[in-house]
Amino acid sequence: MKFSTKAIHAGQGADPATGATIVPIYQTSTYTQEAVGVHKGFDYSRTINPTRLALETQLAALEGAEYGCAFASGMAATSAVLNLLSAGDHIVVTDDLYGGTYRLFSRVLTRYGLEFTYVDMADLDAVRAAIKPNTKMFWVETPTNPLLKLIDIRAMVEIARSPRQARGPSIPQDDKRIPQDDKRIPQDDDSIVVVVDNTFASPYFQQPLALGADIVVHSTTKYIGGHSDVVGGAALTSDKEHFDVIKFHQNAVGGVPSPHDAWLTMRGAKTLAIRMREHAKNAQAVAEFLEAHPEVERVYYPGLPSHPQHDLAKRQMSGFGGMVSFTLKGPEQRAIDFANRMHYFSLAESLGGVESLICHPARMTHGSIPKEERERRGVTDGLLRLSVGIEDVDDLIGDLRQALQLPRAVAGSAAR
Ligand SMILES: Cc1ncc(COP(=O)(O)O)c(C=O)c1O
Repeated sequence: MKFSTKAIHAGQGADPATGATIVPIYQTSTYTQEAVGVHKGFDYSRTINPTRLALETQLAALEGAEYGCAFASGMAATSAVLNLLSAGDHIVVTDDLYGGTYRLFSRVLTRYGLEFTYVDMADLDAVRAAIKPNTKMFWVETPTNPLLKLIDIRAMVEIARSPRQARGPSIPQDDKRIPQDDKRIPQDDDSIVVVVDNTFASPYFQQPLALGADIVVHSTTKYIGGHSDVVGGAALTSDKEHFDVIKFHQNAVGGVPSPHDAWLTMRGAKTLAIRMREHAKNAQAVAEFLEAHPEVERVYYPGLPSHPQHDLAKRQMSGFGGMVSFTLKGPEQRAIDFANRMHYFSLAESLGGVESLICHPARMTHGSIPKEERERRGVTDGLLRLSVGIEDVDDLIGDLRQALQLPRAVAGSAAR
């Protein structure tokens, strides 16, 4: 099956009980058993539910994965994947990432003994230098949120798979955890799991598992759900051992989506391909319009030849997605006034729905990152992020044009 066919058919055969063409919402917490220990494979809905199972099969197929687990949110999916690790393990993380992921890592998981190092993963030497003897995972978000930097997934995989000695100079050769007589640590002890948060690109434009990554994570709240009406997450992999651990934690920790949410997500995902094509077409036009406008200082969009990693984007992605970030000329307050003046771009967190959104990352999505740290990463108070929807692009550009007429020197809030 090709991508669009999978979106509509994978996991979604006619209902075996009734013949219903569309997978029913199995709104049940439990299942009547024929006799003690005799049932149809379903015993309790935190553990397994037919609607959720259909979604998991659909999403796994879209990522080219063998296995999938659906969660109540993207953060629940991220937490479940981090459960692969134990206290004392170290994770190398991309330094430009969703603020909520940073908050989970820095304020929750460090209390359980996990250690995180944030690096600019566009710099492969910095990645190698960050590896320690106890490094067990690379957490890759690409394109990054909100600066739309790209990380070379294949290069991350190569570093993760290379023998420790070849990875970089920072590994202390006298570390007690490395047997001194063993120059090549056995793969089991040595492996670094490569996880890619593929939320921004969606599986339609980027297939991290095909590039060698081990696990893909999604906030299905975004492009996969696609209509800003449901929160969800997913973890997809073809590695049975990883899947078993994630599945165990899905049940043990319990962050599962309701059957209705699973159904909404599955319905949204059926049209992922056509929506993504429209998002990317509109985003390209919006990015080009902004780049040519004299009041715009800088535009961040992987589909622009001016993007420093445009070539990597062309290699790694089959389209450039629907997210565009930019800064305006003039004082930072102008960005806030600009956001307040939009008509079709709703001022809202989140992304990936059919409707266009504008957000001020410093005060909204990335407000949980301390100001100094945020600015060090380039997420300044003047940055704006657009989730370009699939409305008529002329209306979207018209909306941006009217807001750009705001004088540079303006201070204080313009009326919305
Ligand atoms: C890239 C990325 N990953 C993960 C998440 C978390 O997903 P959720 O809000 O569904 O928990 C988000 C949310 O904005 C995100 O943008």
